[in-house]
Amino acid sequence: MKKMHLMAPGPTPVPEAARLVMARQLIHHRGPQFKEIMAETRAGLKWLFETESEVLSLTCSGTGAFEAGITNFTSRGEKLIAVGGGKFGERWGKVGRAFGMNVVDVELEWGKALTPERLGAVLDEHDDATMVTLTASETSTGVFHPVEELGRTVREKSNALFAVDGITAVGVHKMAMDKWEIDVLVAGSQKAFGIPPGLGFLAASDRAWERAASSDHPKFYFDLQRELKRQKENQTAFTPAISVVLALREVLAMMKDEGRQGLLERHRLNAEATRAGVKALGLTLLSEQPARSVTAALVPSAFSARDIVARMRENQGVVIAGGQADLATSLIRIGHIGFFDSSDIVVVLGALEQVLGDLGMDVEMGSGVAAAQEVFSGR
Ligand SMILES: Cc1ncc(COP(=O)(O)O)c(C=O)c1O
Repeated sequence: MKKMHLMAPGPTPVPEAARLVMARQLIHHRGPQFKEIMAETRAGLKWLFETESEVLSLTCSGTGAFEAGITNFTSRGEKLIAVGGGKFGERWGKVGRAFGMNVVDVELEWGKALTPERLGAVLDEHDDATMVTLTASETSTGVFHPVEELGRTVREKSNALFAVDGITAVGVHKMAMDKWEIDVLVAGSQKAFGIPPGLGFLAASDRAWERAASSDHPKFYFDLQRELKRQKENQTAFTPAISVVLALREVLAMMKDEGRQGLLERHRLNAEATRAGVKALGLTLLSEQPARSVTAALVPSAFSARDIVARMRENQGVVIAGGQADLATSLIRIGHIGFFDSSDIVVVLGALEQVLGDLGMDVEMGSGVAAAQEVFSGR
């Protein structure tokens, strides 16, 4: 028998209350019961996003929601500044190009965070940009960018909308949408929410909605103005992912019980303990500005990240992720986004030291776990 532990940076394990509610018979999405649930999830999402704006629940993955953010709040031919430095940051430039935008890629070494100075210089050169896209927590590298400061730079230097991919940041790091004047903020159900993939969340500022009125990109399913009108009536324009919305209500209630501060602090502590553990095992962190959602660690060149990930899964029952693109064989990524606690971190580190030892790496058994325990016990 092998017990499976899902510790990839999404999808993340689904808490029991959410699993049970999804096992029930479906309800009809045009009936009063669904409206009540939508009213609750709308309020919960606003609380989590720290915004007075509507947070739309869209039936799609995170990419769909971000694409909608680009196609609804910009127009063809406009200039979009896409901050790269990882697979997801780079994706938003590709989406812009697919919709005929004039894209300026801000290339960054993978593992590095963007500084406000560098963004300021890009904006000085391109002050006609109408949108800047940033992936707050870059899941492919484990970097957290200084979102608040970068947003301030966008405001000071341009009229561009600041669009933030918060897919592995909302519910993990502070993401004060209104206070930080973020114009478009996106999240996804299979990350911090701990529910199945199927819902993308998007909130937009008044400034962004003003621009939606003149946006000329072709759109139908992702016409957010229609969606906004319907969701304010506790409805969706089309058939929603009903079961996932039911699960959303459960996990939002759990998040509220824990409190926003508790939720963010738990992620901070799990991330710090994981980093201490992998470092004690002799691995090197890729990022100097680490995210709380995922720990990305380089393995010594004599070892293959692919072997480590496979052995973690096959021998230990622990699912982690490897690196992406050029980092496929050199990077492992441990997800600690969602409903994890200290015992989960101990499990993943215990499994990792066993695998590294089996592969012939010089590790002292128990050292990774001990380093994490020191963090949890505040020593
Ligand atoms: C930061 C970030 N952005 C975007 C995505 C893409 O989201 P999805 O796969 O839900 O479309 C992911 C998924 O891993 C992500 O971590």
